[in-house]
Amino acid sequence: MKIAVAGGSGTVGTHVVRHAQAAGHEAIVLARSHGVDLVSGHGLDLDGVDAVIDVSGTSTTSAAKSRAFFEAVTRHLLDAAQVARVRHHVALSIVGAANAPHGYYAGKALQEQLLHDSSVPWSVLRATQFFEFAEQNAMSLFGLTVVPAMRSQPLAAALVAAELVRVAEAGVAGESAGVLPDLAGPAEMRMAEVARAIFAKTGERRRVVELPLPGGFGRALRDGSILPGADAKIVGPSLEEWLAETRR
Ligand SMILES: NC(=O)c1ccc[n+]([C@@H]2O[C@H](COP(=O)([O-])OP(=O)(O)OC[C@H]3O[C@@H](n4cnc5c(N)ncnc54)[C@H](OP(=O)(O)O)[C@@H]3O)[C@@H](O)[C@H]2O)c1
Repeated sequence: MKIAVAGGSGTVGTHVVRHAQAAGHEAIVLARSHGVDLVSGHGLDLDGVDAVIDVSGTSTTSAAKSRAFFEAVTRHLLDAAQVARVRHHVALSIVGAANAPHGYYAGKALQEQLLHDSSVPWSVLRATQFFEFAEQNAMSLFGLTVVPAMRSQPLAAALVAAELVRVAEAGVAGESAGVLPDLAGPAEMRMAEVARAIFAKTGERRRVVELPLPGGFGRALRDGSILPGADAKIVGPSLEEWLAETRR
């Protein structure tokens, strides 16, 4: 199969490309660093592509900016998919985002809605936060490392990538699987605990503090809205196993 990975240079995207190639597929990367801007559509061409895996993303807590990003990216990908007769569009979303469409999650909720309304066969995989999220979202402030106050059941980005490739392969018949069961890690923990465990393992002496984010977005992070449902698919490794594998 030829798989186009939107955001294939990012945290989860690099794992998607690696897994796709290991499974014998051709993978092309759609990202600005590879000459494709999915917001403007510049450089986008899905000719010969069988499946798209969209793991592009933006860094914002603004609902308006998040909506603008995911609307532009999703519309451009779906329009190009229709022209090229792509058989399957797989998008990575976030557990709980569609039911708490505030801040960044407003864009993810809109992305899911656009797929629902699309004639291109689609699947949405909702995952919890990656272990890597703790570092991605840690800010240095007055000598402290500030992490959003949040409950999560995090997992390794590499496992999400492997699942996305399986989903893309399964949809090759050209049928929508729709929204798949949530994908989550083995244990609930606070994101600050993940950050502390990473810095303890790497020997970085950093004091981690939690920052409660404002508004509906911050509430969703804290109140359990983004924890997986009872029918979630749980995948390892645990945080300790992941640290042992990735931070020697
Ligand atoms: N991080 C998590 O814990 C988590 C959990 C569940 C779901 N997700 C979802 O997974 C997706 C990927 O997350 P991530 O953490 O891997 O993101 P990331 O590391 O920030 O990577 C974002 C990717 O998007 C690309 N990109 C950004 N703007 C673009 C544009 N205008 N045109 C084309 N490509 C663009 C980036 O490449 P260039 O900069 O080269 O353009 C990069 O490859 C997001 O949609 C996120 O909501 C993330």
